[in-house]
Amino acid sequence: MSKKPIFQPNPEFSKTARIKNMDEYYALQNKAIEDYEVFWGGYAKEKLDWMEPFDTVLDESKFPFVQWFNGGKLNVSSQCIDRHLDTRGEKTAILFEGDRGDIQKITYNALSKNVNKFANLLKEDLGVTKGDRVVIYMPMIPEAAYAMLACARIGAIHSIVFGGFSSEALKDRIEDAQAKVVITADGAFRKTKPYMLKPVVDAAITKDSSIEKVLVVERNNEEVTWVEGRDVSYTALIKNKSDICEAEVMDAEDPLFLLYTSGSTGKPKGVQHNSAGYILWAQMTMEWVFDVKEEDTFWCTADVGWITGHTYIVYGPLAMGATTVMFEGVITYPDAGRPWKMVQEHKINQFYTAPTAIRVLHKMGENEPKNYDLSSLNVLGTVGEPIDPPAWKWYYEQVGNSTCAIVDTYWQTETGGHIISPLPGATPIKPACATFPVPGIMAEILDPKTGKKVANGESGYMCITRPWPSMIRGVWGDEERFITSYFGDVVKDGKPVYFTGDGANYDEDGYITITGRTDDVINVSGHRMGTAEVEAAIKKHNNVAEVAVVGKPHALKGEGIFAYVVLKSDSVEDEALEKKAINGVIKTEIGSIALCDAMVFVSGLPKTRSGKIMRRILRSIAKGEAITQDISTLEDPSVVAQISKMVNG
Ligand code: WTA
Repeated sequence: MSKKPIFQPNPEFSKTARIKNMDEYYALQNKAIEDYEVFWGGYAKEKLDWMEPFDTVLDESKFPFVQWFNGGKLNVSSQCIDRHLDTRGEKTAILFEGDRGDIQKITYNALSKNVNKFANLLKEDLGVTKGDRVVIYMPMIPEAAYAMLACARIGAIHSIVFGGFSSEALKDRIEDAQAKVVITADGAFRKTKPYMLKPVVDAAITKDSSIEKVLVVERNNEEVTWVEGRDVSYTALIKNKSDICEAEVMDAEDPLFLLYTSGSTGKPKGVQHNSAGYILWAQMTMEWVFDVKEEDTFWCTADVGWITGHTYIVYGPLAMGATTVMFEGVITYPDAGRPWKMVQEHKINQFYTAPTAIRVLHKMGENEPKNYDLSSLNVLGTVGEPIDPPAWKWYYEQVGNSTCAIVDTYWQTETGGHIISPLPGATPIKPACATFPVPGIMAEILDPKTGKKVANGESGYMCITRPWPSMIRGVWGDEERFITSYFGDVVKDGKPVYFTGDGANYDEDGYITITGRTDDVINVSGHRMGTAEVEAAIKKHNNVAEVAVVGKPHALKGEGIFAYVVLKSDSVEDEALEKKAINGVIKTEIGSIALCDAMVFVSGLPKTRSGKIMRRILRSIAKGEAITQDISTLEDPSVVAQISKMVNG
């Protein structure tokens, strides 16, 4: 391992940071190690407003099904809204910038009114009650946040489906959750042009669907088809609603939301997060990892359809009473100066984005940051995929003027919030390195065979050895899958521990670097994609006999999708046309985010005698690497040379 340079935190920033140096970090972490329950119980009392106090901090008796803060009652929408009204009612809660530059500043008072009305609409017009599942398929507009908070207010469980998913993907998620209502919009704007969402919803709701009502928020007034009795207009209904809706008294462990994510099978998992533990960690990581202050304006560029948007656009910033920026558009439009122009105009203090976005902004506008006043920035964050040192360097020097801390935050849909990350006022950072566990998180790199922590300089599996408050509570409707997906691979001291699915290493100083997934999940532009899901989609094309999908390093996206396809017919007239048709099926089944970057038609796949596809070999071929694995045990070793020749010549 080559030695990485170290960058000390900006001393000016450290002075007022919540965690000012590594001694304070270690003191906090030791406090958590010494008495885990005192640590978390203390923060839960301090940071959350309870309607009724909790009796126990952590109940592990049904591990891995754990419960935090049992007996406690609260409401997550009250945490995000009501408790701020006395002290900061007229402060901007959501600063919305539309695709075309239109701006809305929504104060906490206004947010309260909008969410209360929305909650009343859900109850009175759509018949939504506590525990019902509500699918949200929305563009990045304030009503998406109102919808989430309105669900939380009445105890309904939201399940947001990213607006880039196709009708088939939406349908699967609706069905799995047996959702009662879909909230969508007539469309939205992208690069100043309208695009449509409603037709996707229409196609996703088949005759036997569990969906009873579709609420349509009017954004761009495109004409949409209307199903009488099922579809209702937000604009028409909202104006008559009362802006007072009593918050439902929720148990600490009542579900807050589901979010479907990819795993190693073809079927996405409905990751379940519950109320108190999730909101506690969302708020605490805003304070510790981004060190957002009361007067700060925080911008996370994610979409609310992903966990990053849930925790760091909506729940985290609002729970702590900050101003959160919500952006409808594309950050490279009209040019790669757009985000820096926004930072300048809104005096944004913390900026949080994905490495893919940084690489694209770097490539398209290397010198753009210089054209704007970015002096308001103090913390820059990255998330979703490993960041490469050149992108990190540009971000640090050109965007952060070598004075902002970069927090390379490592976490997952399942962890609810950050797990491993630098702390901006404390941690000396190394480029492209997630550094250390956030205080309170017992994360270790373990040897999967022995369950022992690996030494500095070694690699292993990134695990979390004790339950944490914002931990996934289950896979919706599938207890067994929850256990086998996360607690099946690593056993420490005789007890299964949570395995993230990622590999990682400690460097010579004990810094953690995440090296990527150890399973068949790939990371395309920071979006998690199961290769099995893409394979299942490709198999729906009627001329496909077999398929294997692997990830291949991609200069901008981090990883691209590479498909090896065995066709049923001996030959095709026009290969390009056939590939286009197969990509067409992917678009219908999953959405454009899963289109293949490369596809080859092969005569067979490398398989063991028991029929298992040797993906490792296919990954090596895709990367252009020499095959070093023993292939003599394959059913037909000759296919390796054939495929290799086709791909690499
Ligand atoms: C990857 C996104 C390296 C990792 C919050 C993880 C990262 C998956 C980082 C989760 C990082 C996330 N460095 N890899 N800082 N952050 N990942 O569920 O493989 O969409 O398992 O959650 O992204 O993706 P998910």
